[in-house]
Amino acid sequence: MEEPRIGVFLSDCNGEISSILNFKELLAYVEEIPGVVYVKQNNEFCEEPGLKIVRDAIKEQNLNRIVVSGDEPVTCMVRISRVLREAGLNPYLAEVITLREHCAKPHKNEPDKATQKARAMLLAAIEKAKLLEPLETLKYPIKKSALVIGGGIAGIQVAMNLSDLGFPVHVVEKEPYLGGIAAKAVKFFPTDDCSLCVGASSCDLNGVTKTSRKCLYRSGFSEISNVNILTNAKVVGLKGGPGDYQVTVEKAVYPVFPHGYPEIRIVDDQFRKFATEYTLKTYVPTQSEPTTVESICLDAGAIIVATGFREFDASIIEEYRYGVHPDVVTQLELARMLDAFGPTAGSLIRPSDRSIPKKIVMVLCVGSRDTRYNAYCSSICCMVALKHSLIIKEKYPDTDVRICYIDIRSWGRGHEDYYLRAREAGVKFIKGRPTEILEDSETGRLIVDTEDELLCKFTQIPADLVVLSTAFVPSEGTKELAEMLGLELDKDGFFKEYNSKVRPTETKLRGIFICGGATFPKDSPTTALHAASAAMKAARFLNAGEFVKDQKTAIVDSELCGDCEFCPVTCPYGAITLAEWKESHVVAEIDDRKCEGCGICVGTCPLNAIDLRHAKEDQIMAQIKALTQNDESKEPIVLAYCCAECGGTAMDSAGMAAIEYPANVRTVKVPCTGILKIHHLLEAFKLGADAVMVVGCKLDGCHYEEGSMRAKRKVELAKKLLQSYGIEPERLEMFHNVYVEGNEFAEEAKTMTKRAMTLGRLQRDII
Ligand code: FES
Repeated sequence: MEEPRIGVFLSDCNGEISSILNFKELLAYVEEIPGVVYVKQNNEFCEEPGLKIVRDAIKEQNLNRIVVSGDEPVTCMVRISRVLREAGLNPYLAEVITLREHCAKPHKNEPDKATQKARAMLLAAIEKAKLLEPLETLKYPIKKSALVIGGGIAGIQVAMNLSDLGFPVHVVEKEPYLGGIAAKAVKFFPTDDCSLCVGASSCDLNGVTKTSRKCLYRSGFSEISNVNILTNAKVVGLKGGPGDYQVTVEKAVYPVFPHGYPEIRIVDDQFRKFATEYTLKTYVPTQSEPTTVESICLDAGAIIVATGFREFDASIIEEYRYGVHPDVVTQLELARMLDAFGPTAGSLIRPSDRSIPKKIVMVLCVGSRDTRYNAYCSSICCMVALKHSLIIKEKYPDTDVRICYIDIRSWGRGHEDYYLRAREAGVKFIKGRPTEILEDSETGRLIVDTEDELLCKFTQIPADLVVLSTAFVPSEGTKELAEMLGLELDKDGFFKEYNSKVRPTETKLRGIFICGGATFPKDSPTTALHAASAAMKAARFLNAGEFVKDQKTAIVDSELCGDCEFCPVTCPYGAITLAEWKESHVVAEIDDRKCEGCGICVGTCPLNAIDLRHAKEDQIMAQIKALTQNDESKEPIVLAYCCAECGGTAMDSAGMAAIEYPANVRTVKVPCTGILKIHHLLEAFKLGADAVMVVGCKLDGCHYEEGSMRAKRKVELAKKLLQSYGIEPERLEMFHNVYVEGNEFAEEAKTMTKRAMTLGRLQRDII
């Protein structure tokens, strides 16, 4: 590596920090540090004309690394990187710190200690800067086509939106027809019209007028020239990476469904369950066609997962007799009966004797809001029940319809109207979850055994037909598909978003998007919004033409790496594979396209064979040394490892708000706490720390999925090791913060400082 010629630029923030820190002492100190050839103080360096001073100094002083102490570190880093580029230096050869937020403001009432800390911070930044290496900008071509998995309402809308924008789209649907659950739902709320309504395409299709919405068959969807629809098809393999996926699809040809679109027919057991003689004769063929399977490979730059949801299997709840008594049906089965194209041609029947039911009881929250099955609320089942009760009351006004509920959740726009209309139509509501659905041994008639919480009594309701509003659960094959794509599932088994609050249709994998019921059960308007969002995100990705990222990635030392196979399992992005190297030696290989530079693999590798290009082991160790050894005050030192995301921003916000905490606390920022090894924790003690705090994101809020959780486990293990050395384990602690928790960070810093003071300085020779 070339001899360092480091320029140090110290902003005094218009006197705001030089009134607290002794700048004269700091400047004199920095000038003496080997490798530093230029030191400059100014009001600020993150705005012009300060940036010009940096730009000129790099050129005039022939600097090859710079350290800048500014105010807000991220903005400052962005601007300084730009200046480095303009001055002909690699933009990664700068270390930016903030003496204002991380030193002067939070320690304003202990200026001497704050100056000591500032010396340590500057030394750490300079020692790190000496070890910085230039990084490249990586560019990969993006194929301008998309593959949508799932041909329900969400999948159709995504495909239509992307095709409208000119992208070729493959739609892979495992059923023989498009429309998903909507194809069987008869009508939808809140518009009370057909469930198979889609937004009209803006493609020029002669004969298709561009009104606000279309029935799927009138939309001309199958005729859009850049949409390739594959029904009876399943994704079975995936290769490649963002912008360049090769997807293997198995396409089966198998038997018959009645009013499917496109017109392919299958044998449908659910249909047979309720079919009349007429519908059987009209819709169902007598012979099945043989199944054949072909395998095809499709290229796609982006993938959108729109696999929807399905009904919970109510037969698991034995006391409700679903699957045992023919007159216990689900809401989707009822919807099929109420559909003019359904198995009963729209007639409501009691399956056991095909009579018209006079008394119908609907049971809500079957398998949902029930910790035995699914603790979550499926969000739309109350509305499905209200919708069906209204259709029944309209067509069969004399029918006695009762709904057993825990709470009626009609939260959406126009949804409460359904509840009010149902009440007006005479639907009766009974608050209570039925304990059992019994069968009258003499008549065979059903009896719903329930509590009426409002009347404080148990009651038994005779019923001709019981309709279960079941939970909605992830569609079949979700787990296998998630494994194939490398996506996470949430605790309920649905696809997990990159961030449910702000990036609801992106995933942790660039180039793969999700939408609709694949992430959670949704009503139609929310699904349409989701689909539009996913299409926009995918289009933006595809449109870039190139997938550009910096080289902040992991790197493997093949000589050290040795067959252990830990890292491919722990990488949250599937960026690591194993490859033969020499003499049958298997080594890890990093796919730079997929690597997000979190360092979780670094923290996992038992052989120290992996490093991060932008946070190398020697850089981390150089900072620890500088922060723990440069001290004349003899005060206990608390070393804080903070992640660069939420955990670290809690410290930033404490500084911004000038929330005080002891200057004993000195920080090493790492990309994610997942990078930390036990050795980092112990080494900090060995080198001079009297207490160590690890500050990461919330356990379920790590920006790299599991980093915070992994760090917590390592902290727990390291505490046991400390104990075995005779060192108080409470000298080490992990905390989890977010940006707005500056107060909490300050309290944690005080706690750890107090512990270090109470326990006294550490005897290092025992580690
Ligand atoms: Fe904060 Fe992982 S990014 S702990």
